[in-house]
Amino acid sequence: MSEDSQAGLEGSRRFHIRTYGCQMNVHDSQKIANLLAHAGFAASDDGEAADLLVVNTCSIREKAENRLYTDLGLLREWKARRPGRLLGVAGCVAQQEGDEILRRFAEVDFVCGTHNLRLVPALVAAAERGRRSLRTDEDPTRARFELPERHPGLSNPTPGRAFVTVMEGCDMFCSFCIVPTTRGREVSRSADSILEEVRGLADAGVVEVTLLGQTVNAYGRHDLRRGRADAEGTTSFAALLAALDAVPGIERIRYTSPHPIFFDEALVEAHAALPSLCPHVHLPVQSGSDAVLAAMRRRYTADAVRELVGRLRAARPDLALTTDLIVGFPGETDADFRATLELVRDADFVDSYSFKYSPRPGTAAAERSDRVPPELAQERLEALQEQQRGQTLAAHRARVGGRAEVLVEGTSRRGDQLSGRDPQHRLFNLTAPAESGPRPAAEPGPRPGDRVWVRAVEATPRSLIGEIEAPRLQRSLRRADEQGHHVRL
Ligand code: SAH
Ligand code: SF4
Ligand code: F3S
Repeated sequence: MSEDSQAGLEGSRRFHIRTYGCQMNVHDSQKIANLLAHAGFAASDDGEAADLLVVNTCSIREKAENRLYTDLGLLREWKARRPGRLLGVAGCVAQQEGDEILRRFAEVDFVCGTHNLRLVPALVAAAERGRRSLRTDEDPTRARFELPERHPGLSNPTPGRAFVTVMEGCDMFCSFCIVPTTRGREVSRSADSILEEVRGLADAGVVEVTLLGQTVNAYGRHDLRRGRADAEGTTSFAALLAALDAVPGIERIRYTSPHPIFFDEALVEAHAALPSLCPHVHLPVQSGSDAVLAAMRRRYTADAVRELVGRLRAARPDLALTTDLIVGFPGETDADFRATLELVRDADFVDSYSFKYSPRPGTAAAERSDRVPPELAQERLEALQEQQRGQTLAAHRARVGGRAEVLVEGTSRRGDQLSGRDPQHRLFNLTAPAESGPRPAAEPGPRPGDRVWVRAVEATPRSLIGEIEAPRLQRSLRRADEQGHHVRL
């Protein structure tokens, strides 16, 4: 008997999903996996074992988009190795390129855009009958948020944690960005539907939810402005956070990515008032130069960011801030770049994701002729990253000696240590207390999804080393938690 039939998968066709891009795409892949599980497919971690492979693509920068084209070259051979294999392309490149992909790549069986995830099983079924097809029509309704419950046969890749979509699309049209094209117009999901999902997740043992949206804190804004919030079942973002904070069992709420202009007083206040709202905000600022920010159509100034950072830190003094930055935007001068370095210092970002500007066809900035030479952009990127490394290390060093509650995620990159994140989203690699004796066999160590208290004992530029303390106490509190008593550690 094969392993498959032992696992009850006899006859099941296997799928594998390869994901590029942001958390939204990671979550979309989870949704596609769930739909395929409901359609009778079994998940496979291994592309070689799969009969169906879906590449969930990203087109935020040229390099990301090119990954698809490199992959397709290799996947032609993957398909040829076993007759009957099927290949699908989903995500932002699929939405953008549509039938161009079917036309150029004979090995692709179906293309599914970002609004049509629900149609993946139907596209697969058509492909099984030998019909190549695509669905990339924009769906301006909330129907796309209504997806089946998690299939019991799917393993949870993130024990204790879950992503929850609250809005999709982007109406901001920053001049460098392809997302408004690939994700379409802003649509917010009803608060009831979000709450129902989060309650279900809490019942299933999830303690940390990350609310997702391209401009997540714009949640509900169009409905509120048009006086349609009641009819559509949406609220302000701050009201949504308050409702989620009240869900028993949800201990940590995060959200990503907010846009700086949608931090109203109520949202800043929420950081002071809501116990489960994590003391971390990923606040993409892109640049510290007012001229560049205006050309990017970001609709704020560097001083407005400084002011916002001040308000957030006043509300939540232990707040950790991270950001996204672009260097080498067309026309960026040395002085503009120095202004970015200054803002990164003033805002005291604990970490940042920085990118060289990449022209995206169809965006306003791609038309500009005053490009920054690639070598200069590279120089600036390196200088920015060097400054950030110093800031990150200093922030980590300041934590040494302190305690943190870490939600265990899995093993570290080296594979020999548990790792997880604290409420500020800092990465901790965990060690057992140096003086502790051998652990009694009956007492297993922490597992992914557990929360443990640690003492920060060492700082590195990427992470902190955390020594686990009082595992027994943790476990007894956790048991109380499981019995239904709400315990805030
Ligand atoms: N919605 C988020 C960003 C999503 S894209 C926001 O409003 O900030 C993630 C990051 O990719 C952006 O924050 C930006 O820093 C970067 N990015 C987007 N388009 C880019 C481009 N054309 N070139 C380089 N970096 C880009
Ligand atoms: Fe892109 Fe700007 Fe929308 Fe963010 S807010 S997704 S950077 S257009
Ligand atoms: Fe990429 Fe699309 Fe996300 S372009 S960053 S996968 S929204």
